[in-house]
Amino acid sequence: KLVAFCVHIKKCLFLVYLSTPTPSPSPSPQPQTEKLKVRLAGYPRKHNEGRIELFYKGEWGTICDDDFSLANANVLCRQLGFVSATGWTHSAKYGKGQGKIWLDNVQCGGGEKSIELCKSRGWGNSDCTHDEDAGVVCKDERIPGFVDSNNKIEEVRLRPVVAMAKKKMPITEGVVEVKYKDGWAQICDIGWTIKNTRVVCGMLGFPHERKVNKNFYKLYLERQKNYFHIHSVACLGTEVHLAACPLEFSKPNATSACTGGMPAVVSCMPGPLFMQNSGLKKKLKISSNVRLKGGSRVGEGRVEVLKDNEWGTVCDDRWNLQSASVVCRELGFGSAKEALTGGRLGQGMGPIYMNEVKCVGQERSIWNCPFKNITMEDCQHMEDAAVRCNIPYMGLENTIRITGGRTRYEGRVEVLSLDSNGTQSWGLICGESWTTKEAMVACRQLGLGYANQGLQETWYWDSSNVTEMVMSGVKCTGSEMSLSQCQHHKTVSCQKAAAKFAAGVICSETASDLVLNASLVQQTVYIEDRPLHMLYCAAEEDCLSKSAAKANWPYGHRRLLRFSSQIHNIGRADFKPKAGRHSWVWHACHGHYHSMDIFTHYDLLNANGTKVAEGHKASFCLEDTDCQEGVSKRYECANFGDQGITVGCWDLYRHDIDCQWIDITDVKPGNYILQVVINPNYEVAESDFTNNAMKCNCKYDGHRIWLHNCHIGDAFSEEAERRFEKYPGQLNNRIS
Ligand SMILES: *[C@@H]1O[C@H](CO)[C@@H](O)[C@H](O)[C@H]1NC(C)=O
Ligand SMILES: *[C@@H]1O[C@H](CO)[C@@H](O)[C@H](O)[C@H]1NC(C)=O
Ligand SMILES: *[C@@H]1O[C@H](CO)[C@@H](O)[C@H](O)[C@H]1NC(C)=O
Ligand SMILES: *[C@@H]1O[C@H](CO)[C@@H](O)[C@H](O)[C@H]1NC(C)=O
Ligand SMILES: *[C@@H]1O[C@H](CO)[C@@H](O)[C@H](O)[C@H]1NC(C)=O
Ligand SMILES: *[C@@H]1O[C@H](CO)[C@@H](O)[C@H](O)[C@H]1NC(C)=O
Repeated sequence: KLVAFCVHIKKCLFLVYLSTPTPSPSPSPQPQTEKLKVRLAGYPRKHNEGRIELFYKGEWGTICDDDFSLANANVLCRQLGFVSATGWTHSAKYGKGQGKIWLDNVQCGGGEKSIELCKSRGWGNSDCTHDEDAGVVCKDERIPGFVDSNNKIEEVRLRPVVAMAKKKMPITEGVVEVKYKDGWAQICDIGWTIKNTRVVCGMLGFPHERKVNKNFYKLYLERQKNYFHIHSVACLGTEVHLAACPLEFSKPNATSACTGGMPAVVSCMPGPLFMQNSGLKKKLKISSNVRLKGGSRVGEGRVEVLKDNEWGTVCDDRWNLQSASVVCRELGFGSAKEALTGGRLGQGMGPIYMNEVKCVGQERSIWNCPFKNITMEDCQHMEDAAVRCNIPYMGLENTIRITGGRTRYEGRVEVLSLDSNGTQSWGLICGESWTTKEAMVACRQLGLGYANQGLQETWYWDSSNVTEMVMSGVKCTGSEMSLSQCQHHKTVSCQKAAAKFAAGVICSETASDLVLNASLVQQTVYIEDRPLHMLYCAAEEDCLSKSAAKANWPYGHRRLLRFSSQIHNIGRADFKPKAGRHSWVWHACHGHYHSMDIFTHYDLLNANGTKVAEGHKASFCLEDTDCQEGVSKRYECANFGDQGITVGCWDLYRHDIDCQWIDITDVKPGNYILQVVINPNYEVAESDFTNNAMKCNCKYDGHRIWLHNCHIGDAFSEEAERRFEKYPGQLNNRIS
């Protein structure tokens, strides 16, 4: 959907088209049909055994044990998400239930999908009392993919004890508390192991666990009233959630629930990204041959692995939470929250290295897990695996907010700051020098994904409740987690300090991601000596270097380095020019509109990075030349059509199109680097700017030209990139 708005009051100077933010895709939706609910209840019970309760006509009730059988238990256990039953109980073994006795004389065959389908006396027709409530014991093996919502541990947190309460974020040590349907409770620590701690730390976003000084806590906790809900936790350490560990529930508030024990206390080791102590930070290295790409938040993205100095992706066959957790932990996050398949966080471009990754969960790296090598036919990038990792709660979103916008994804940025009296207050940021990079950090800190735009003026938004300007000169690299990590002026200095010139953002859950096909550049490169009489149009569009002006037109020629550019959108949103149609420029010579003034830079660099051929800024007419299977074209240049590049499509600028070249007439023979940068000024939001540059080693002997090692900016390892950068110099030395 397009939303347009004017960015000049009197004349509609240019219309800005924005894509309205789309909410992030939610994980598999729950079926809407009112299904019969089944749960395990009573005490003492385990996650896989207990009194059977059914939710029918808005009321929980029990089943009478008359005629009960293992076949009945099998049907019920499967409804509870277990593969089968190992037994059943009678005479209210787990205590008496309350309310209705819904079913009596139940006689299942064993294969029914639901207890409703079994023979019985009918709903609510029973002559039993609750002394006869039936229970089941299920085999402790889950039906794959089943989520238990009844014995759900909704959330886990660490409560630091008073002496440590003032410690900075994140909270890494404290009493474990679990949230269940009636509130928060503690875990009895009898039999507690470091493996349990590992699971808790993973859920809270920490890769490693530490030993804790129990005696310190004991003194303190003995004087407290404790509420235990869970005991006998026995995790393997590879689970991604406490609920996946064998454990038992005790009656909440039962004082006898943990005789001889105390509340479980854990201590976790944060990853380097979340560590305050910079000394430790250096010691703790995260994996350098695994990375996440294309996620809109910290700790999520497509999984990429490094092999032979080149990055590639992982195919999603058998991709699961255990393997995803190994990736998360080796990158300094906790266990995995989601293991995503089907290129859900965007498709990669390079090689695919792994398939059928089968981690146990204890491996230090995904490279230590069993996997299969890929043969070309096995997998496509449509199947790229991705992860969402648990990350520690840092509270960063509490010190930033946006106001005045039309949706919750846009507005003036306000930060919480301390005034001279030490009181906290919200204030605006000066719009001068505010760019997409700063907006990227603001959107990340707000938890709203990518920056669609960074705005230097925000007068067109509601300004009834504006605050003072408290920050100016903000300069970010773009990768910071919060604005406080960016540079800014010590004291506020803003030329136009009125609220209408305050910095604003428009955030989005998705963004495009443009990538040039590097191998096509390498394959299509050649030199052409083009007669000047064929270059009038090109000269008019500034596609030749300055010396062309001094040529003896129309006699002579220019030497052109030509190649094809195929630009793919591998992101999750269409790439659309920032400016609306009204500001597109008609290029009479070429007979089409250019929607972006500077869309790419074409440069030839020498060993020290100096440009040797005059950089040429190409403006494009953007369209879908072609698309991958199953995607249809949406944008075309002809007839003042809509311009852009659809996700899964590419725009091909063939080598024989006018201006698709670098004018190398004045370049001496030698070794160079050919560099093409797409969207160089960050004009349009992308999920990843590190892959916007494409580089090749270039050898020119005065007659012919060769390209080697063409690759996009983030395709090589750092070491390989350093070697690549040295190439021109090294060869020069060898030649001289
Ligand atoms: C258990 O303790 C909580 C206090 O944390 C209280 O609110 C609740 O009513 C108690 N429940 C029972 C059954 O005593
Ligand atoms: C996968 O390929 C690598 C070489 O790239 C080889 O060393 C390894 O043995 C192969 N593994 C399997 C399971 O084929
Ligand atoms: C600081 O406190 C004093 C006295 O309460 C007050 O007059 C002054 O306005 C305060 N300054 C700020 C910046 O809030
Ligand atoms: C402005 O602030 C007042 C008081 O805090 C509030 O009642 C009002 O709704 C706000 N107006 C807008 C447009 O946010
Ligand atoms: C890139 O170009 C090469 C050479 O024409 C082609 O074989 C390859 O399929 C292209 N890559 C993509 C992702 O389209
Ligand atoms: C870079 O190289 C060019 C020529 O190769 C030379 O003129 C220039 O001084 C060099 N610049 C630096 C900073 O080394």
